Amino acid sequence: MTNSKILYLWLLILFVANGWWCCYCCWNEERTALLQLKENIKYSIGNDYLSSWGANETSDCCQWEGIVCSNTTRRVIELSIAVKKISQEEQLSTLNGTYTDDILRNWLFNASLFVPLKNLKALLLPGHSLAGWVKNEGFEKLRRLRKLEVLDLSGNSFNRSIFESLSQLPSLKSLNLSHNQIGSGSNIGFGYNKPGSGSERLSGLDKLEILDLNYNNLEDENVLSALVK
Ligand SMILES: *[C@@H]1O[C@H](CO)[C@@H](O)[C@H](O)[C@H]1NC(C)=O
Ligand SMILES: *[C@@H]1O[C@H](CO)[C@@H](O)[C@H](O)[C@H]1NC(C)=O
Ligand SMILES: *[C@@H]1O[C@H](CO)[C@@H](O)[C@H](O)[C@H]1NC(C)=O
Ligand SMILES: *[C@@H]1O[C@H](CO)[C@@H](O)[C@H](O)[C@H]1NC(C)=O
Ligand SMILES: *[C@@H]1O[C@H](CO)[C@@H](O)[C@H](O)[C@H]1NC(C)=O
Ligand SMILES: *[C@@H]1O[C@H](CO)[C@@H](O)[C@H](O)[C@H]1NC(C)=O
Repeated sequence: MTNSKILYLWLLILFVANGWWCCYCCWNEERTALLQLKENIKYSIGNDYLSSWGANETSDCCQWEGIVCSNTTRRVIELSIAVKKISQEEQLSTLNGTYTDDILRNWLFNASLFVPLKNLKALLLPGHSLAGWVKNEGFEKLRRLRKLEVLDLSGNSFNRSIFESLSQLPSLKSLNLSHNQIGSGSNIGFGYNKPGSGSERLSGLDKLEILDLNYNNLEDENVLSALVK
């Protein structure tokens, strides 16, 4: 065989092998993780939510609502879960009269559900979807996602206690905390250091380029003091 034939054969083997690994173009462990996540959300919302996320072995999770995969590795690189507001009539019929907001606010963040998505670059959880986090499963655990650059937690109900967790995610480039409760619910100044506690400061995010803190009832003169390097 000539060199070019050998090269051709190798390329063919690589091509076929790649197709084999990339069964149905979605990694099994990632589909499993996403289905586990859906299970966790379903608990709080309703049955038709995230209906494109099929519990089907041949279902390509890269095609699911809110998922973006890398074109080369087929790994999930973006995950977006936005809880849609439903009308009052819908509320009464589908949720049998239960007040929606109470149901949505039952969803607690559990970082372990997200860490199998190792190549995740952007995690978008905007809009009254999260109430807080499960004990020992806070956002600090996302530091295992070394490629995570974008985190959108806008429109949730987080207060300053989230800063301690977020300060442990040095890969972040963009953090959206608009429409939360960072500035309210406390008499002390923003960024005030309680004796023996630095926990209400956002620090160590050396790569951060975008920080959105709009609509948090912040008092201007205190904002910068909490954003330390
Ligand atoms: C599984 O998904 C594939 C592709 O989306 C579809 O063709 C097939 O009918 C599904 N099977 C079941 C049992 O839902
Ligand atoms: C993947 O390729 C499609 C089609 O070329 C493109 O529209 C899309 O933006 C690409 N996705 C990523 C994550 O690069
Ligand atoms: C709606 O509420 C009624 C009365 O409380 C109950 O009997 C029924 O099972 C509920 N339906 C659903 C779908 O939860
Ligand atoms: C958080 O998620 C992990 C992984 O699915 C699970 O093992 C654990 O029980 C969950 N924690 C709670 C408190 O629900
Ligand atoms: C801030 O949020 C944490 C976690 O959700 C909660 O335990 C705490 O009570 C909140 N603090 C205030 C002042 O609202
Ligand atoms: C942050 O989120 C809000 C609400 O979802 C959006 O309007 C705003 O544009 C976002 N900020 C940035 C910098 O993307």
